Amino acid sequence: MLLTSHLRRARRKLLAAATILGLTAGVSLVASAQSRAAVTDPCDIYASGNTPCVAAHSTTRALYGSYSGSLYQVRRASDSATANIGVLSAGGYANAAAQDSFCAGTSCVITVIYDQSGHGNNLTQAPAGGAAGGPDNLANAIAAPTVLNGHAAYGVFVAPGTGYRNDHTSGIATGDQAEGEYAVFDGTHVNGGCCFDYGNAETSNNDTGNGHMEAIYFGTSKTWGYGTGTGPWIMADLENGLFSGVNAGYNANDPTINHRFTTAVVKGGPNQWSIRGGDAQSGSLSTFYNGTRPNVSGYNPMHKEGAIILGIGGDNSKGSAGTFYEGVMTSGYPSDATENSVQANIVAAGYTTSSNTGGLTPGSRISLRATTSCCTTDYIRHDDADTKAVISSISSGSSATDKADATWIVRAGLANSSCVSFESANDSGQFLRHYNFELYIASNDGTSLFAQDATFCPQPGNSGQGTSFQSVNYPTKYLRHYAYTVYIASDGGSNAWDSTNLWSDDTSWAVSPPWA
Ligand code: AHR
Ligand code: AHR
Repeated sequence: MLLTSHLRRARRKLLAAATILGLTAGVSLVASAQSRAAVTDPCDIYASGNTPCVAAHSTTRALYGSYSGSLYQVRRASDSATANIGVLSAGGYANAAAQDSFCAGTSCVITVIYDQSGHGNNLTQAPAGGAAGGPDNLANAIAAPTVLNGHAAYGVFVAPGTGYRNDHTSGIATGDQAEGEYAVFDGTHVNGGCCFDYGNAETSNNDTGNGHMEAIYFGTSKTWGYGTGTGPWIMADLENGLFSGVNAGYNANDPTINHRFTTAVVKGGPNQWSIRGGDAQSGSLSTFYNGTRPNVSGYNPMHKEGAIILGIGGDNSKGSAGTFYEGVMTSGYPSDATENSVQANIVAAGYTTSSNTGGLTPGSRISLRATTSCCTTDYIRHDDADTKAVISSISSGSSATDKADATWIVRAGLANSSCVSFESANDSGQFLRHYNFELYIASNDGTSLFAQDATFCPQPGNSGQGTSFQSVNYPTKYLRHYAYTVYIASDGGSNAWDSTNLWSDDTSWAVSPPWA
């Protein structure tokens, strides 16, 4: 545990040094440490099963052991400049630090998710379609933080209205041709809108009839099909129907599956298709359906068109929510054995949340104690003098009001449920939020800016002890006390509170039992 956090800090320092030296030098430093063994990734496995990837999308890692190109492109709000985000080494993890430095102090959206297969099947902003106008929204680039074997990365956070598409593909199955598809999703970020899909759809952005799509659907919609429990379910979006098995509507073998990281599989060929799924963090895939095409007319033979969608329905229906980390489409019907090896590779990639929860369970009450030597009896609090957040000493003899002012209810992050927000224990509905980089308590006004200003991603303490809280919209800045006032601060910067002196101590907090 201690060793791991030492390594993590060492790596962070290395990356910070790399940023100063210029990214190229940094990347080659990390790459040389990692390039000793040849890497096998999902598309190498599909290729050896004779069902090669014809589209391979991921913002978190390479999907071929030899892939060293760009994973995705981000665009920042401040000057509309774009940057490609690549991998730390061939076949390895995303260079999220490059995104963090490019997007520091502004916000970024994901503009392109590159196809790693060599077929040029990149995903970009989806255009208008028969069901909804467009172009669709682009994903906030920091809204789905994750960690793969200790390497920070970002998934694609699809809020309703967000969508990606490619209507001019090459190599993707058409007509009744066979294909396989898998994706890794966040099983806790779903809704019932139509239709959080990844896979094969119409090239016209319109509903052109039954059987014109074959995409993985993931969510809680019961409009067309569903399985046991309350969802989410993995289903196949075959157009004018999400199918959980051979029947329209209910199929008893399709279970609710809501692992934080869920592997979802759909594959289809001539009068044959299958739904499979599992926990992307452990174990194997289960088969939820394997058999003939639905007993509804229009789906046998299929009329696949070969466009690719992410986060929307075939006709650009865009009421859906979800998070995508990686996914592929293959040529040919992959064997279960091939997919089982891919699942093992996904598990080995070590997906986890960025939360070092350390007692930070949503709903729990905590107090946050400073760890700098000046201030080890001081806690983050508000008081009635104003709405500012400060630190002050609290002890068992403190008044009930002081104790309650220094107590916070942990909430799932308002902007990102894998991070946290802090609601005041005695001013219900008021959250710790930054504004002009100072911390205040304020009522949640429901805006996305408020949600971001009030969302912090816990990480191992910057000083080596406790927990640091990274601002979700200013990821170089962490909750810090400075002159007994609370800010978000970077390690060096233009504000007085960005002072490098004691920054690591001032940004490291002991998550403590609640005073009230
Ligand atoms: O099949 C379900 C949805 O129906 C499709 O995604 C969409 O094109 C249509 O509205
Ligand atoms: O605290 C930094 C920014 O200041 C916040 O994101 C915004 O609410 C205000 O403009």
